[in-house]
Amino acid sequence: MKNRKLVMIPGPTPVARSIQDQMGRETVAFGDPDFVKDLKEVVNDLKEIFRTKGEAFVVAGTGTLAMEMGIANVVKEGDNVLVISHGYFGDRYAEICQRKGLNVDVLSSEWGTIVPVEEIEKKLSEKNYKAVTVTHVDTSTGVCAPVAEIGEVVKKYEDTVLVVDGVCATAAEPEYLDEMGIDVLITGSQKAFGVAPGLAIVLAGPKALERRKSLGTIREYYIDFEKWIPIMNDPSKYFGTPAVNMIWALQESLRLIKDEGVENRYKRHIKVARAMQAALEALGFKILAEKDHRAVTLSNVLYMDGIEDAEFRKVLAEEGVVVAGGLGAYAGKMFRLGHMGNIDTHYLVSTISAIERTLYRLGKKDVLGKGVKVLTEELAK
Ligand SMILES: Cc1ncc(COP(=O)(O)O)c(C=O)c1O
Repeated sequence: MKNRKLVMIPGPTPVARSIQDQMGRETVAFGDPDFVKDLKEVVNDLKEIFRTKGEAFVVAGTGTLAMEMGIANVVKEGDNVLVISHGYFGDRYAEICQRKGLNVDVLSSEWGTIVPVEEIEKKLSEKNYKAVTVTHVDTSTGVCAPVAEIGEVVKKYEDTVLVVDGVCATAAEPEYLDEMGIDVLITGSQKAFGVAPGLAIVLAGPKALERRKSLGTIREYYIDFEKWIPIMNDPSKYFGTPAVNMIWALQESLRLIKDEGVENRYKRHIKVARAMQAALEALGFKILAEKDHRAVTLSNVLYMDGIEDAEFRKVLAEEGVVVAGGLGAYAGKMFRLGHMGNIDTHYLVSTISAIERTLYRLGKKDVLGKGVKVLTEELAK
């Protein structure tokens, strides 16, 4: 019998049955009073969980649309923007900003490391930046940016808005907008929320909303905060058709998050990540990200000598686990393993065990049980 495939890529992540059920419901009119209530609840929950007095937006689209929405509402052509890049998705933000005709400076780090906060502080003291963007967890490197520290620095600059890409972090890494100085948080449904791909989620704090107002009419239409604010406040109004079933799915995901307790969820992610990373190291792999800046949502795992990427991932898929390949210069040199969202111990043990069986089939005969032992011990702590 063929193994069932566990999707352990860094998004989309496994979708819990109760969330799937929401996607399978019969679609209702978007003006249906029950749906209007549901969307309002989703918006309120997002503001409450991520702690902002500002606004929350949920629109059909992916994380990249959310990136565009995040920046388009807080700057205008010719403004100075500082992009902090810890990898592929930081570079993507730089490209988006360049296409918008912004005056972009990029601070990037070697893959696996972070840009020191002092460097960001120095840059901010040299020029008037209207916005700073940072990727909370860059999925290409598995590096987690010190967003709270960056927020403290940016807060000192009244004219500078901090935009955080939380696509691979939100609902797994703490993100409290107003306390942490995050003015815009952009994210997507398919990673730590554990919903299928299809929703772009954006939260904007008071400073970002003030900025939006000051810009007047912006060029963008679908992603204009001002077009959506009336709808998010009163979903019985129409601007663009809401993704009814996806919004129900997100509502269920938020229910699961509230049920677990968001702080508990953050703690669980730390525990899971450290256990998975210790297990992978026990099997002889190395993790790309420096220890102090490792994400809790995924691990970017460097192959040991003698293991070839395409063959490893093919055999691993036969053993029942799908992981993602490396990006950029790390294509062929590493795999990316997601461990975020609504996954339980079964997923973790099965994943490490499948990795052991794969290595065994590829000639590493001394690995069986080693990773699972470390994983189980770490999880039991
Ligand atoms: C950190 C980060 N930002 C942005 C994106 C883009 O999101 P999407 O692929 O949903 O457009 C991704 C996708 O993996 C990501 O990991």
